[in-house]
Amino acid sequence: MSDKRQPVEEMITSSARNGRSVNGSPDDLASIPVRVGTLDEVRAKGVMTASGNGKVAAVFYHEGRVYAVDNRCPHMGFPLSRGSCKDGILTCEWHYARFDLATGGAFDLWAGDVDVYPVEIRDGDVWIDLGAALTKSGYAERWRNRLRDGLEQNLRLDLAKSVLGLLSANPSDAARDIVSTSAEYGLTRGSRRNSSGWGDGLTILTAMANMQPYLAESDRSLALYHGVRSVAEDAAGQMPRIDLTALPVDEATFSRLREWFREFIEVRSDEAADRVLRTAISRGVGSEQLIDLLGAASTDHYYRDFSHVMDTLAKTVELLDLIGWNRSAEVLPTVVNQLAQSTREEERNSWRHPEDLVGIVEAAAAGLADVVDVGARNGGWDGSILSDLLGDDPAVSVDGVMKAFRDGASLADVAQALAYASILRIARFPTSNEFGDWDTALHHFTYCASLAQVARTAPSAELARGVLHGAMLVYQARFLNVPASRLPANKRLDRMPADPVQLLEDLSQCFERQGAVDESGALVYRYLTLGHDPTVLIRGLGNAVLREDAGFHDFQMLEEGVRLWQDLVDAGKEEESYQCLVAVARWQAAHSPTRRATTQTYDIALRLHRGEAIYESAAEAEEAAETPV
Ligand code: FES
Repeated sequence: MSDKRQPVEEMITSSARNGRSVNGSPDDLASIPVRVGTLDEVRAKGVMTASGNGKVAAVFYHEGRVYAVDNRCPHMGFPLSRGSCKDGILTCEWHYARFDLATGGAFDLWAGDVDVYPVEIRDGDVWIDLGAALTKSGYAERWRNRLRDGLEQNLRLDLAKSVLGLLSANPSDAARDIVSTSAEYGLTRGSRRNSSGWGDGLTILTAMANMQPYLAESDRSLALYHGVRSVAEDAAGQMPRIDLTALPVDEATFSRLREWFREFIEVRSDEAADRVLRTAISRGVGSEQLIDLLGAASTDHYYRDFSHVMDTLAKTVELLDLIGWNRSAEVLPTVVNQLAQSTREEERNSWRHPEDLVGIVEAAAAGLADVVDVGARNGGWDGSILSDLLGDDPAVSVDGVMKAFRDGASLADVAQALAYASILRIARFPTSNEFGDWDTALHHFTYCASLAQVARTAPSAELARGVLHGAMLVYQARFLNVPASRLPANKRLDRMPADPVQLLEDLSQCFERQGAVDESGALVYRYLTLGHDPTVLIRGLGNAVLREDAGFHDFQMLEEGVRLWQDLVDAGKEEESYQCLVAVARWQAAHSPTRRATTQTYDIALRLHRGEAIYESAAEAEEAAETPV
């Protein structure tokens, strides 16, 4: 095999000089030359280290050439100066990742590429340039590629590193970049629950993007990591989807397309419905009309797939708000299969017996078009609907909704009141219930909360049927509040501390032990009624979820609870807003603590990102464990 490499005395293995950019564009490099030693020394020792500019390089003499690479293995930081070189391949001795010594390219993709530094031989001395760095855009592009690789191969450590890398490259726009790149991957694959489209991972990703302004700065990257790794896990092993195309002849009116879409969903003909939706999108139909079309089909049947269809619809809308409605064709068709194949709650016995809830709803729904105002009309509605919704009579509940509409309440107002009624089921959920019933209460709440979000964007008489369906869910869930846990407002809380720091510390301790459900709600209520800053409390609640092995429902509860809190604050409903955070805390206390294994990978990535020594501390810990006391 001929060795076309230059003799070492003549070469300048600089990525800057030979135009082979490993670390970025040559014009971006601020030169920081560092002398390593004489060439004879490097040759004799085989490997030396040199430092400067906050970096340490491992400098190898191998097969007649000098190479310089970053001394921290990109996998978990092992000193590469302790690695071995053979046939131009550098092997890290900790987990045996292999790298092309010349370019730093990894042969084991889970490790990632290692930085290489330009080398120059000058007057018999070896010099390296530790100033070599990527431009911001080059750095971001590298991490974006790494994020794509991590998603493709479901590599948690890579995903965590990419999130941190992108955030440090471009703090102002990285969250959107991360969500957009991850969504692009998730949307083209199916998911475990829905092989043809939108999956739970995308819901978590969107929820964590929505949560960004409410989280402590130090938790924002962790939240995005949870979203990204959920997408990767959800899509693992799924094949890329082949998209259908729009109809070739584009003559149908939007109302005809809307009619067709609902008809095809009705008969579970998902491909036909998909094609109709794509036709509407390709025609440039506006976002409100697209949401209206999907919202109408979603409420053509009751509580489809429990809350999942409505949850997904809301999240697709929110994702498009984040990444841009020009990507409708990528996002919206992913809901079609779920919508078409979903269960229909009215087929269940519980909706027909012992009371015919469907009959009650249908009788009222026939008059909805006459009373629902899709605008922001508030008329003379006094907002009093809660006792109807939480009562024991489904007819009274439905009448309450219809009266609110007749009194001039907007759909958004009534949907928000419904969402509040449904979160109260969680705020009053007694721990004597079966544990699995928390999920029932949560599904009801997320259905109502998602409906409220969609209703604000694209109100319609069809969507208003969803409010009637939701009212029956709140009615049915009354057994989850028997006996109802007393709301903290009805308890004596003055024995609790008043200091906000102490209250938050006590709350945090509730999440460290099992069963502190009522105490957590009481602490939250006391904190808020004493006038302490709710944003600090929400950051604490966010951290309490993110540090756990949180599941789909935990993320939903946090995000939907906080968003309803925000909506109620904006509406001037202070006392109601408190109950939202009470419910969030109670849910979390019921589901904590977990093993907290999920964040371990993120913590390693964070330490590597900060330049902390992982290998050294692991070795020290092992040594300490082996030292006889
Ligand atoms: S392979 Fe180098 S630290 Fe793991």
